[in-house]
Amino acid sequence: YHRLSIMSTRYSRGYSNNENKCLKKWNANGKMREKSLTMDTLNPQVKAVEYAVRGPIVTKAGDIERGLQQVTTTYLPIILTIHINTSCLYVQVVALCSFPELLDSSSFPEDAKQRARRILQGCGGQSLGSYSASQGVDCIRQDIAVYIEQRDKGVPADWDNIYLTTGASDGIVSILKMLVSGQGRSRSGVMIPIPQYPLYSAAISEMEAVQINYYLDEDNCWALDINELHRAYQAAKEHCHPRVICIINPGNPTGQVQSKKCIEEVLHFAYEENLFVMSDEVYQDNVYSPDCQFHSFKKVLYEMGPEYFNTVELASFHSTSKGYSGECGFRGGYMEVLNLDLEVKAQLVKLLSVRLCPPVSGQAAMDVIVNPPLPHEPSYLQFHKEKRAVLGALAEKAQMTEQILNTVPGIKCNPVQGAMYAFPRIFIPPRAVEEAMSLGISPDMMYCLRLLEETGICLVPGSGFGQREGTYHFRMTILPTTEKLKVLLEKLRDFHIKFLKEYASLEEPKR
Ligand SMILES: Cc1ncc(COP(=O)(O)O)c(C=O)c1O
Repeated sequence: YHRLSIMSTRYSRGYSNNENKCLKKWNANGKMREKSLTMDTLNPQVKAVEYAVRGPIVTKAGDIERGLQQVTTTYLPIILTIHINTSCLYVQVVALCSFPELLDSSSFPEDAKQRARRILQGCGGQSLGSYSASQGVDCIRQDIAVYIEQRDKGVPADWDNIYLTTGASDGIVSILKMLVSGQGRSRSGVMIPIPQYPLYSAAISEMEAVQINYYLDEDNCWALDINELHRAYQAAKEHCHPRVICIINPGNPTGQVQSKKCIEEVLHFAYEENLFVMSDEVYQDNVYSPDCQFHSFKKVLYEMGPEYFNTVELASFHSTSKGYSGECGFRGGYMEVLNLDLEVKAQLVKLLSVRLCPPVSGQAAMDVIVNPPLPHEPSYLQFHKEKRAVLGALAEKAQMTEQILNTVPGIKCNPVQGAMYAFPRIFIPPRAVEEAMSLGISPDMMYCLRLLEETGICLVPGSGFGQREGTYHFRMTILPTTEKLKVLLEKLRDFHIKFLKEYASLEEPKR
């Protein structure tokens, strides 16, 4: 119990700060000055925000990595970061745009230079260092519209409906801001999947909107269940005004790819109930299962006919952070809106203008993602070789992760059809659950903390994403190299078996 109590103090340490203990300071005039911002005066909505993906486990892993905390393992924490190393065009184009003197260098291919010149011509003062229009650089928005039309097999895309954003996160938060209003029973309700990517719950609590959970069907590969949508909607109507439904496809943390039928059902439901649809499609290039295909909500909406595509309000989101580039540090992204009221559109531009513009380097990176090299261009072979290698390795790792996890007693993992994560269900023995409760932490948090301490593996507990009561999960990414991932999964298996044995031996002997 000593070890676990240390764990719990370390857990809380992630959020404490010694500075806070000293609420009063003497100033130069010898007067006592109290801090104006303390935990008592802090905006309660900020306090309410939770974001597990960068929560205490990751903080602790960082501390261990920097040698600030000791662990019993000899392994350094395996912190699963998102960036995928490719040498290719994104970085070249951003480098050329940032330092145009390089346009004279023979080290860069001509297609990278052409892209860079075009982007620079669209930038104020032909420089990435200038603010762009709030909606983004025109030629990049045009490229995005062309990309969407090609992706959606000819469904038209108007570049006036495209907005560059600071990663997809910024677009998602901006649209939610537009939608949240009212008080009491008329307060906006936001339907989100559970498990969810915690940006959604965090934004909802920050905006004091009402979170409406709809549960994905774990027994059916985390599919969307239309009956569950109706249930959640009807129950929520009693206490709020459901106005928007968010879908993450392919899913984070659940790794599923929704079928076209599921998407049609969601769109029909949104049409009937007058809901705004937000479709988070940042993993649209990350589909691994041969039985699955990515269908954009917009394309499916068009296929449902004019009654739908002329009315349903839809915002869909994409990003530089995922796919086969993983250029998350550029903070590039865009959103496409459909059927937005014209006056509201002006309000959206106004809202975005307040923050001036998304990073122009991120916009340039987004341009390369939607405008990859064509067969006649010099970077074509290298680019597609890297793309195939990255996506092929991710597909292999997705399958290996599912297979190895399913050999472990007490772990059950759905196929990782897409995105970058497995979200297996873990059995936690009742004694371990009791112990976690007595420590005031969730059982899967305790599990992940022990895993980190004993093996150096850093996973995120399922409770940070939401899960059905009484079930426990963790999220792991499939991003490490195949060799590293295999070692990691084997260590995880050994840890899990040891954990089960340890707590089984603590069970009351049966009479
Ligand atoms: C489902 C989902 N949406 C949005 C984001 C945010 O992406 P970005 O880096 O583009 O802000 C993420 C990041 O992990 C994500 O998984």
